[in-house]
Amino acid sequence: MAKGKIYITRNIPNDIIQPFEDAFEIKMWKESETPVPRDELLRQTQDADGLVCMLSDAIDEELLSQSPQLKVVANDAVGFDNIDLKAANDRNVVVTNTPDVLTDTTADLTFALLMATARRVVEARDYVLDDKWQNWAPFLLAGQDIHHKTIGIVGMGRIGEAVARRAKGFDMNILYHNRSRKEAAEQELGATYVSFDELLRNSDYVVALLPLNKDSEKLFNASAFKQMKSSAIFINVSRGKTVDETALYKALKDGDIHAAGLDVFETEPIDSTHPLLELENVVCLPHIGSASYETRWEMLKLCLDNIKAVLNGNDALTPVK
Ligand code: DGY
Repeated sequence: MAKGKIYITRNIPNDIIQPFEDAFEIKMWKESETPVPRDELLRQTQDADGLVCMLSDAIDEELLSQSPQLKVVANDAVGFDNIDLKAANDRNVVVTNTPDVLTDTTADLTFALLMATARRVVEARDYVLDDKWQNWAPFLLAGQDIHHKTIGIVGMGRIGEAVARRAKGFDMNILYHNRSRKEAAEQELGATYVSFDELLRNSDYVVALLPLNKDSEKLFNASAFKQMKSSAIFINVSRGKTVDETALYKALKDGDIHAAGLDVFETEPIDSTHPLLELENVVCLPHIGSASYETRWEMLKLCLDNIKAVLNGNDALTPVK
């Protein structure tokens, strides 16, 4: 019997694919950092049975309609807003993502970004490197406390809960807003469920960890920023499109909020001349929420395990429902 064909949209280490090579014919794009060009992706998926894709690859009607063999798309991310789920469902293509394996790593990064923004870590590093450090002064690069402050988590999924666990270790007061109440998290972490507006009004740190969909698109808009405290710090490790970036820029510039830590942007990669990046009170990262070596390895392995399961006629391990 012919081997099932798998296409991977980046070059990934051989050690990850090696255990799957006996059973499958695996091809991958030659670059690890540069995305596969669209025409090459369309060409490669024409006869693929399984596809491992990245969050920056659009898996849409055009691609799915010209990939008659495709049975499973494994997204190398927990978020799957890059995939047209309806178009996949219409063709019985199983879509999978990578929950759980990245939860703690992404929560670590969220907390690191919150701390770096609050305590001005990046500015402080630049201060030393730019030879500005001539004296000690009582308020030199003074930031804001984290301990005993209020964190407001918007999107209390697995990562939200893991961030809340870290916040508890810092003696923070924890508010959250989510589609559904998380009573176990309320018990375990002492988190309090509040409305979105209440969360905005009462949080020192507003942390976006919600999936991108039609309800969350531009949820953080001018009216949301207006409701926040002028001392509030906004952290986004979800998707850039949950934010109206023009409104965020204005809120930061006008002092409606104090600072922002951003791992994600409306357009990625963000242009280095983007006005948001010119602000001193913005800490920016290149979408590295889950980027630890161990976790990225596990994510890719999970993608291939999902494809193997589906192509062998079994249920996917982590299907997107
Ligand atoms: C995801 O998995 O959706 C994250 O954004 C990757 O860092």
